Amino acid sequence: VAAVDHLDEILLDHAHCEKKAAATAVKLIFLHQDRAEWMAPLSALAREELEHFEQVLAILQERGIAFERLSPSPYARRLHKHIRDKEPGRLIDGLLVASLIEARSCERMKLLAAALGDQPLGDFYRELLACEARHHTIYVDMAASVCGRDEAEARLAELAVQEAQVVARGPKLARLHAPFG
Ligand SMILES: [Fe+2]
Ligand SMILES: [Fe+2]
Repeated sequence: VAAVDHLDEILLDHAHCEKKAAATAVKLIFLHQDRAEWMAPLSALAREELEHFEQVLAILQERGIAFERLSPSPYARRLHKHIRDKEPGRLIDGLLVASLIEARSCERMKLLAAALGDQPLGDFYRELLACEARHHTIYVDMAASVCGRDEAEARLAELAVQEAQVVARGPKLARLHAPFG
């Protein structure tokens, strides 16, 4: 994985990803207060992502990397273009896109963990993986509660094809959601 050659920038991007993941969950809490059953899982998710944010911030500090703004890759913006305009498609797709972003983070962390071997940072990514693997199912379950399991899974498969194309399209930046290698 060439990403390990740009670890400082990958780590900084990772910090921003955790911050955005927390914001996504909090935003959904504000938008869907009529769905009481979503509140606790979203709050727990936001808390977990903020914990990850703090963990990555500590690693940045250890390595002497300043936390600063970082221009995002076009990944999320391009992915959001595939969200349907009309409800309930908009809500369902928004949740499924959030799920795909989590799933991609998870896949990237797996690659990083493997490339880093038994270095402490490799252990850190292996720990995070377990959480991130759960996160994408939370969003799929939420989508299934809106439109049923079958429709949610079918739409997820369609959006997953788009997501793979978006990530492959690049550009090749040192970002968690850009082409690796
Ligand atoms: Fe996370
Ligand atoms: Fe996550």
